[in-house]
Amino acid sequence: MFDLETTIRERHSTRMFLPEPVPRELIDEALELAACAPSNSNIQPWHVVFAAGTRRDQLVAALLEETTKNPPNIPPLPESFRHYRSDLGHQVYGAMGITRDDKAGHDAAVRRNWEFFGAPLAGVVCMHQDLSSADALSVGMFLQNLLLALTARGLGSCAEVSIAGYPEILRDQLGIPEEMAILCGLAIGYSDPDFAANNLHVGREAIEKHVMFLE
Ligand SMILES: Cc1cc2nc3c(=O)[nH]c(=O)nc-3n(C[C@H](O)[C@H](O)[C@H](O)COP(=O)(O)O)c2cc1C
Repeated sequence: MFDLETTIRERHSTRMFLPEPVPRELIDEALELAACAPSNSNIQPWHVVFAAGTRRDQLVAALLEETTKNPPNIPPLPESFRHYRSDLGHQVYGAMGITRDDKAGHDAAVRRNWEFFGAPLAGVVCMHQDLSSADALSVGMFLQNLLLALTARGLGSCAEVSIAGYPEILRDQLGIPEEMAILCGLAIGYSDPDFAANNLHVGREAIEKHVMFLE
């Protein structure tokens, strides 16, 4: 198991998983640690529904079928932030060997979002719809704890807003009630070491661009 700093630096998004199942006790340990996250009024607003085995396969089949009929309902990024997505796409798809003009390759790679990138454990992260942005922050803290605890246990993961693009399918397949807002999906499993994009550690901007000290 890594120390905290190494774990933080090691965690990165995995976009190709081995079919090997994930031991339930590792998930339980990671969830128990994740729940140590702080939260507004200690509400602990995180709510995660996991699907493995047949339920996961049925969910993926339903999502993939829906992708052939309707585009995902994901709010577009504001114009001034869009370059982040294209820069990231360039790095991730580039590492997969997909060039900018390879539309078929790009579409196939995007579709893999709704297969949870082959992960044997598929999660959907929710929060009660009456809660607000402070509570969404709390869910984010839980989620980061979870991703770190999974990393420390040798497991790969990827948070996926793309999954939230088909809320009706998720509600129907997983019995998620209307009062739960769906925030994102979560793919968990063992990383495929032969998939080059799994070894990509995308860079970060200088911290000064995001943090200000005033005296
Ligand atoms: C809330 C959230 C939603 C995300 N949604 C997706 C997604 O739909 N598809 C995807 O491939 N990656 C997704 N990611 C992964 C980000 O692209 C990734 O975290 C970011 O590029 C930094 O890379 P790293 O996780 O490898 O450090 C998401 C991450 C977060 C935190």
